[in-house]
Amino acid sequence: MRPIRFATAALATAALSLPLAATSAAADAPSDLRTAPRAKDQHERLRSAAPDGFYVGTAVAGGGHHLEQDYPDPFTSDREYRKILGQQFNSVSAENQMKWEFIHPERDRYDFEAADAIADFADRHRQVVRGHTLLWHSQNPEWLEQGDFSKEELRSILKEHITTVVGRYAGRIQQWDVANEIFDEQGNLRAEENIWIRELGPEIIADAFRWAHEADPEALLFFNDYGVEDDNAKSDAYYALTQELIAEGVPVHGFSAQAHLSTRYGFPGGLEENLRRFDELGLETAITELDVRMDLPESGVPTDAQLEQQADYYQRTLSACLAVEDCNSFTIWGFTDKYSWVPVFFEGEGSATVMTEDFARKPAFHALYNTLLDAKKKDCKKHWKGWKKDWRR
Ligand code: G3I
Repeated sequence: MRPIRFATAALATAALSLPLAATSAAADAPSDLRTAPRAKDQHERLRSAAPDGFYVGTAVAGGGHHLEQDYPDPFTSDREYRKILGQQFNSVSAENQMKWEFIHPERDRYDFEAADAIADFADRHRQVVRGHTLLWHSQNPEWLEQGDFSKEELRSILKEHITTVVGRYAGRIQQWDVANEIFDEQGNLRAEENIWIRELGPEIIADAFRWAHEADPEALLFFNDYGVEDDNAKSDAYYALTQELIAEGVPVHGFSAQAHLSTRYGFPGGLEENLRRFDELGLETAITELDVRMDLPESGVPTDAQLEQQADYYQRTLSACLAVEDCNSFTIWGFTDKYSWVPVFFEGEGSATVMTEDFARKPAFHALYNTLLDAKKKDCKKHWKGWKKDWRR
């Protein structure tokens, strides 16, 4: 286990020792960033601090992706992990367990065990579930990617998959990431990488939404991607596509930014405005996979300044979502470094989540808690004022 040093320095002090990008990010950070625990740290619960109707979620670790660690599925084996998962969050997302290669390992066989366990856990803990994902270029089983299927067969395979998976959890999934990462950085459809778009054309995207809606009319259906936090070529492509689909009456309900951030880069300052333009189209918006990775010093222990900068990014992402009317779902991609995907995918980087490997809370955790609590208080004040006005009439 790596020890962690809790940051006590005020952000202003920390900013002095940060590199250029970090300094400018910190300079326009809200002055009320509070990253210290409130009085009774152990009683801080993100889900209780959240305003009514706001969902604060985490990915449920899929297990096994620390290359050097051959551990069993943490969701079923780690009691401390499960306890925190139930206490802190009122929304959960399947990190891997609902992806094609997990849930549909053979042409004629589905494996619902891990996904069912998440849905059951969520029911027991009064949590909603985000389903992830139905149409993606990655983590597809070999039988699908290497299979020699005709276009008609592929279309019926996708329809059957969506109908079966969405149908199984109908009424139990709040939001589905129907189409995941369909555009590249230039805003072009991933026409080569994505088997569905390559073989069946872009029209298949609308069909996927229609089939999902038929299978569960209550679920909110989303486009989900990374690198779309700011207004840029990729998010513009989603903006144009969602407008088109809405005009055609396709049941698209939401646009979500994953928000895999890194302290190497400045904070995506256009996030709130970008979410707002989708909100103005009548869509729900969401943050679905937030984590903030950093370059680790040789000791492996982040400095106070790094942890403060990370807390700042977490807080600003949450604030952007809270500021947009129909951004009601805010999910972090795992809550402990113990099971984070980051160190495996980014050499030398890590510490991306809000808790250490032994579940100690970082400044980022407190920043989220304090921001949620402040939003809840403001909300209560607003309702109270409204109620008083109505009552006087
Ligand atoms: O299941 C195998 C296991 O049998 C094998 O022993 C082990 C050895 O490496 O690998 C296991 O599969 C791994 C899988 O996670 C489950 O643990 C894959 O190698 C590994 O690549 C996979 O990584 C996942 C990654 O998506 C793949 O694209 C991460 O856990 C998951 O956090 C990440 O999540 C994605 C979102 O779905 C979409 N947005 C980006 C985000 C981060 O990449």
